[in-house]
Parts: sequence; C-alpha cells; structure tokens
Amino acid sequence: MSTTTVRTGPHGPTDAAKRPPVSEEVVVLDYGGQYSQLIARRVRDCGVFSELLPHHVGLDEVVRRRPKGVILSGGPASVYEEGAPRLQRELLELGVPVLGICYGMQLIALELGGRVEGAEVGEFGRSELAVAAPGRLLAGTPAQQSCWMSHRDTVFAPPPGFVALASSTASPVAAFESTERGIYGIQFHPEVVHTPYGQQVLTNFLADVCGCERSWSASSVIEEQVEAIRAQVGDGRAICGLSGGVDSSVAALLVHRAIGDRLTCVFVDHGLMRKNEGAQVIQAFRDHFRVPLVAVDASGRFLERLAGVTDPEQKRKRIGAEFIRVFEEQARRLDDVHYLVQGTLYSDVIESGGSTGAATIKSHHNVGGLPEDLDFELVEPLRSLFKDEVRAVGAKLGLPERLVWRQPFPGPGLAIRIVGGEATRERLDMLREADAILQDEIRKAGLYRDLWQSFCVLPDIRTVGVQGDTRTYGNVVAIRAVTSDDAMTADWARLPYDLLEQISSRMIGEIREVGRVVLDITSKPPGTIEWE
Ligand code: XMP
Repeated sequence: MSTTTVRTGPHGPTDAAKRPPVSEEVVVLDYGGQYSQLIARRVRDCGVFSELLPHHVGLDEVVRRRPKGVILSGGPASVYEEGAPRLQRELLELGVPVLGICYGMQLIALELGGRVEGAEVGEFGRSELAVAAPGRLLAGTPAQQSCWMSHRDTVFAPPPGFVALASSTASPVAAFESTERGIYGIQFHPEVVHTPYGQQVLTNFLADVCGCERSWSASSVIEEQVEAIRAQVGDGRAICGLSGGVDSSVAALLVHRAIGDRLTCVFVDHGLMRKNEGAQVIQAFRDHFRVPLVAVDASGRFLERLAGVTDPEQKRKRIGAEFIRVFEEQARRLDDVHYLVQGTLYSDVIESGGSTGAATIKSHHNVGGLPEDLDFELVEPLRSLFKDEVRAVGAKLGLPERLVWRQPFPGPGLAIRIVGGEATRERLDMLREADAILQDEIRKAGLYRDLWQSFCVLPDIRTVGVQGDTRTYGNVVAIRAVTSDDAMTADWARLPYDLLEQISSRMIGEIREVGRVVLDITSKPPGTIEWE
C-alpha cells in the first residue's frame, strides 16, 4: 500500500493535536489493546466526545484537553515485563476521574500498592462476574452477569483504601473503586458487545463519576465543524474532489454549509463508476444542494490511458496519474483557491500514527493520491469521526440515503475488476450491467446494508454454454459479496440460494455476452476483497 504526502500549504499546518479542546471530552490512553478504538467509540455512543491518544502522549497534552475523565485501555503486555508501558503517577493526581480497563486496571493496582500476579490460567472470552458490592461503577447492574475477559495477569488485592466490587472465576478482584480518589478499575472489557452491561458501566463512569452532560451528537458535530471551518478558511476559497463516496460527500456538505459558494466541488467522471452513479452525484450536489460543481466527463481520456494495459498496478497508476492531471486542470481554472477539502476519517488518522502537521494519505483509498506539490492547505472536517458517525452526520445534512449508505468502492473503479485483461469500453459496459443487476437484487432482498461490499468481477476468460439450440462462448461473471467491519478481514457472505439463482438467471438472460455466473467463496485472509 503506497502513500503520498500532501504538504500543508502556506497557511500553516492542519493539526488535530492543536485543535482547541471541545467542551466535554474524555481521553482514552492507548496501551496497545485490541479494543482501544472501540472504547472511544462507546464513549461517543454515550454522548461524550472521546479520542484515543498513545499512552506516552505526555501529561501536558492530556491536561491541555481539559478532559472530564481519563480511561486507560487494555494492552498485551504484563505489568512485570521489562519495557512494559508504565503509568505516569501524575495522571492519577490531576483531580480528573480515571478508569483503568484490564491492563489499565493492573497499572493502577501496581502503582498504588495493590497486588497483581500472573494467574495460573488466563481468562479469555466469556466469563461470569459476581458483583459483591456494586459501588458507583457497577450501580444498576445485576449481581450475576456475563462479561468479556482477555488477560493472564490479574489483581489479587486492591490498593489500600479501595473497595473490591466484583470477582470472576479467574479474577479475585475484577472491579475496584475509590470514590474519594476518583479512581476506578475493571478487569473485563465494557466496550465489547459480549459484555451486556458494559455500556451501563461506561455510562456510570461518564455521567455519575465524571459528571458529563452527554450532549455530543451528530448535530453538535455539524455546529462545531461549521464553526471550525469558518475559523480556518476565513473568507478564502476551497475546492473539494467528490468521488461519490460518503466521506467526500459529507466533507463537502459541511464545508458548503460553512462557506457557501466559496466552495467548488470537482467531480471527475473517469467512466469507471457503477451504473448511474455519476448522475446521482451530480443530481445531489448540483440540483439538490446547489453546491457549485464542476463535473468533468473524462471517460474518453481514461480509456485511452488504459488501452492495452492488463497489469493491475499499471491500471491503478495510470488511473491515479490521469485523475491528478484532470483535477489539477480544473483547480487551475479556479482563481484564488487555497484550501483543499478531504474526507480523511479518524481511523485514517489513527492508522497513520496520529497527526504531526502533515497528512498522510493512502493512495490506495484515494484514486491515485494527490501529488506532493499541490499548494493547498487541507480542510479535514471528518478527522475526528468514525465512519458510522460520518453516516449519521450525512443523514442529518440531508444527503440521500443511497450516498449515505454507499458501500465502499475503489477509486480505480470497475477497471480493477476486469481481471487479467484490458478494461475496454465494451467490457466495462458488460461489467456495469452485471453489477447493476447484482445491486438491484441485493437491495430488493434488503441485504445491501448488511454487506460490506458486493460487486461483480469479470475475468478475461470465455467458457462454452448452450442456449436454445446453439452453442455459446460467453463471458464469466463472478459474484463477490463480503461482510466485514473494516476491510482488514472479511467473510464471504452467505447469500440465499434463491437470490443467487435470480441474479444468475437475470445476468445470463439480460446480458447477451454473459454465459456463466460463479460465486467467490473466499474469505480475507487468505483472499483479498478485490481480485487484483
Ligand atoms: P482488498 O482487496 O485489499 O481491499 O482486500 C480492501 C479494501 O480496499 C478497497 N480497495 C481499493 N480502494 N483504490 C481504492 O480506493 C484501490 O486501488 C483499491 N483496491 C482495493 C477494496 O474495495 C476494499 O474495500
């Protein structure tokens, strides 16, 4: 996966770490746990803004954010290992409530004089929790409940002055608290769905202990971001490349709400989109939202660049390079534009190791990425949002359902789904028709939102068949449908047989060139989602 860096322009760096504190924030310090991101999401689900910071971020940064609470995440280390991440004692003395989860709890116990030891048996997966005294943290939850555990070390005795609240088979002290000191710990993971009272425990911490108002929501994001965009852009002008995906659409709408017609959107139709997709983007932005939009039909240029190319990386490179060319041509025609709007999400920020003043953009996910010397300052209004929050903001802003819920679609589009062969106009048309049938049937079956992606692949092979009394020599269409949370892993979707039958007969009946339909039953890993 290659990366391209877009330098921030002469107007100074865009740095999330430097953004002013939001009115109510809870900081999650990441000790490397598998579920750390999820903690921040769950806190947000409770209506409190939350960001994940590396555990070594430094006390100053935590203090600067004026958090209402601090959560220490789980992590893979043992507190006794050499080089294991440590707790900064001062964190416990800020006068801000602290909740340690799993490793975070063990750190607190160790620091304050409790007893942490490696248990004979680890506790991984579902476990039963017996609540002896609910205290503040477990208030309103049953005496017996299940929870999710994932640890080997465990707390055998709480620090002096702390009350042990609960235990499990392998954890003598599975929860403790000191209401006086405002310090709390749980061995189990409240953030995963397998802990049914997890959200209740988090709510207790956030509302009762930290005193959060819990007013953070998609609407408050809109107000906050509109203000932030106005402050950043002032009376300047901005440009935004629309891809048809939800991220760039929502970013554009937020910026349009903030600076109105001083935003121009550019939609480059490379002719590799799905059926009617280009028209839907144009209709939504130009006709419905009345955003100044330059729509460029560049399909001829892209097809020329793809002529004779069969290697997938070459396809990606050529499409990326051509995209930049067309985008730059359009940008140059606009006077006085200093700002480039990008739909970078929080998961991209975390993945690229946080923000240091230069945004790292994955070319994999942005057609070809933008070149290094574009002299724009980035405006990234979605930088602190997770995908589902972006969808919620999009829906609030009135983005049509189809755009809000669009499945991810690769920047190089249908070209990389013509496998082993050249992406010619005829093949693209065939693939587009097959894909339209697939989408149509999947939507009719009510499965569209359940699938991470569903699409067709057209390998460069022909197979024999018989239709009527004639032998045919037709193309093969492969159906690929997967479930996934983040595209890192994926499972092939168990589509109902009747649905597959309907899709197959429609494809062969309605598209003359298609002679055979097959289903891809490979998960990721070992496969990838796309075929090339
Ligand atoms: P793979 O095939 O690597 O895909 O399992 C993971 C996710 O990335 C998308 N993908 C791309 N997106 N440009 C993009 O913008 C690309 O070249 C590209 N290749 C794969 C893929 O659709 C899936 O969501």
